[in-house]
Amino acid sequence: MPAARYLVAILVAGAAGCGNGGDPGGAIDVDAKPVARDAYAKPIGAAADPGYARADDAYRHRLIETFTSITPENAMKWAVVHPAEGRFEFDDADALVDFARRTGKRVRGHPLVWDVQLPEWLTERDWRPAQLRRVLARHIRALVHRYRGRVDEWDVVNEPLADDGGFAKNVWFRTLGPAYVAYAFRVARRADPSARLFINEIDAETGRKSLAYLRLVVELKRRGVPIDGVGFQNHTTGKDAAGPARLRALFTAVGRLGLAGAITEMDVGATEEGRQARVYRDAAEACAAAANCTGLTVWGVTDRFSWLEPQSRALPFDEGGEPKPALRALVEPLRRR
Ligand code: XIL
Repeated sequence: MPAARYLVAILVAGAAGCGNGGDPGGAIDVDAKPVARDAYAKPIGAAADPGYARADDAYRHRLIETFTSITPENAMKWAVVHPAEGRFEFDDADALVDFARRTGKRVRGHPLVWDVQLPEWLTERDWRPAQLRRVLARHIRALVHRYRGRVDEWDVVNEPLADDGGFAKNVWFRTLGPAYVAYAFRVARRADPSARLFINEIDAETGRKSLAYLRLVVELKRRGVPIDGVGFQNHTTGKDAAGPARLRALFTAVGRLGLAGAITEMDVGATEEGRQARVYRDAAEACAAAANCTGLTVWGVTDRFSWLEPQSRALPFDEGGEPKPALRALVEPLRRR
């Protein structure tokens, strides 16, 4: 997705308050029949927001009935979970992890280190490197310890790269240099040796950023960083989508390094339903065919609550929760035969 559109989407979604306005909190109802845990050959996931799930029946029912994995859309981000230094608020994250347990779903934790949705106490201070390293380690340990055995896969470092393929010049990089990436993985590994640890990146399926991303991963492996997998967000459109051969090549490339791969945040905006279904099918087929693909996650459930502009209609269910052709395209290649 072009950078400008991505920024607009973040601002719009942020202004909407991430669905938490007037949200009563508490447990998310399980008032539909959960899809069988092993219905698909690989987990098919959705980004989930507890506010949307509590407020909207169609969203919650489709989430329960369709997806075998969830990624907290916002509930584990720094600004939500760590609002003041050393003070953690786990209500929404707990609600989602508990909902996943009651519905037999896997959880992908997301994200431990990112430069968006950070609290002001973090961004508005000049940190000495040793101090920031301590804050980072404490944050990672708090989350990874709490969900040990319940989160299978963590996005340890999210979007480390800028559009030009260099490191994003964010607070982590400015204070700690590129070493923050390896440091975060090491802390996460010690906190839960059995979780699979992923790096995750946007717009890294094709082009220059894709090469830079693969180079970064090669370098991390070479230096013995404890990384298990490589996430491709795959926010895309009918026009920009990586084709089937390219997706297969990405899984093969990371597989050669002994790493897993996953499609972590897919949506397909700005296109008609037939083309959209084709793009979802290509991704589902690529994941199904790759022994090292650990799942395909879409970034939302119904078009009513996408992080993109409303006219994007990028998800497999429409605003009212009716399935679009994209749903079948996503599920068929991954259905267990
Ligand atoms: C988005 C959420 O969907 C929005 O609700 C929020 O306002 C901004 O972040 N890449 C990521 C995700 O890794 O965490 C982002 O999620 C979308 C882009």
